Amino acid sequence: LENGLARTPPMGFNNWNTTQCSATFNEAMVKGVADSFVSLGLKDVGYQYVNIDDCWAEKTRDASGNLVPEHTRFPHGIKSVADYVHAKGLKFGLYTSAGTKTCNGTGGFPGGLGHEQQDADLFASWGVDYLKYDNCNNQGVDAQQRYKAMRDALKKSGRPIVYSICEWGRTDPKVWTWGADVGNLWRTTGDISDNWSSMISRVHTNDDLAAYAGPGHWNDPDMLEVGNGGMTATEYRTHFSLWAMMAAPLLIGSDVRSASAATQAILKNTDVIALDQDPLGKQATIVSAGGGLAVYSKQLADGDRAVALLNETGATATVSTTASAIGLGGSPSYTLKDLWSKATRSTTGAISASVPSHGTVVYRVSRAGAQPDGWYQAEDATVAQ
Ligand code: GLA
Repeated sequence: LENGLARTPPMGFNNWNTTQCSATFNEAMVKGVADSFVSLGLKDVGYQYVNIDDCWAEKTRDASGNLVPEHTRFPHGIKSVADYVHAKGLKFGLYTSAGTKTCNGTGGFPGGLGHEQQDADLFASWGVDYLKYDNCNNQGVDAQQRYKAMRDALKKSGRPIVYSICEWGRTDPKVWTWGADVGNLWRTTGDISDNWSSMISRVHTNDDLAAYAGPGHWNDPDMLEVGNGGMTATEYRTHFSLWAMMAAPLLIGSDVRSASAATQAILKNTDVIALDQDPLGKQATIVSAGGGLAVYSKQLADGDRAVALLNETGATATVSTTASAIGLGGSPSYTLKDLWSKATRSTTGAISASVPSHGTVVYRVSRAGAQPDGWYQAEDATVAQ
């Protein structure tokens, strides 16, 4: 959506993957997350949005038809939490659904269908900077009609609000084919769970959608599980690496107030974050795949390429490609920087690594040596993407 927002994929937090609707989801948690964004340096590396998900509202609207914050979770309302988040130099996000009720089955919380302008205006008055708009209880109303109604209402509210479409993906109505005109990002998958097969299947569901992503309009393979405990450190590095390769939103889904050093080391890898936030806004494409080994390449604004060597098998394997296969031919030598180990080496074109089971090696590949002005661009223009 060309509303000037999300020129790079949104980075931040959402409570859903760690709390769902449990009582731990409340005002104290949200404020604590904002505190941790600052104290742990997450803000410094680019995490900005502190977003809350389903179950924040009372089950009935008030006499004027307005949504009401659930009084035990948010005794001081949503605006006071948004104000707190803003005072930390961060942004605040909220959730509702493009249906008569939200998605939590037992909750029965009111959704936005038919209340778009009233809700958008209320959210704007509370200082909401990001809206996740879900798909449940949609009464069979056409998806584009429902999502456009909220897009237009948000615009009319006068507040810049990142618009996240939570229409789940690969079945009709093929949200990626119309999403760029409607939202800043759209879900291309069902809900992620905190395990390897769920995580990696979200990657492959997103594999062939690179052409639809770009500044202001991103494919969304769902939020991060890094730190929630269901995967190994190697698997979480793969998760984070591939989300960055995909130019996916980086919304932390674990409780950052208690983030371990190992979790922080993943979430604060600035070399990997730089791939996600690269201003060219290209999603990686598959260079080769087979036998549980895959190579992804992502074009970067400065002429470099990021390459991810993924091993989905149960044993260590060598994964290989070449500079020309990733669209970077024509130089006598290249520099490879391993973005996890930080080791740098040079190569005449072979790109290869021994990759542990469920691991991913990510290199930033640069042409070595000075080149005349314009050389990178001219070369890139001839490469099939
Ligand atoms: C749907 C969404 C999830 C989450 C829940 C909340 O399942 O896909 O991301 O927002 O609803 O109920």
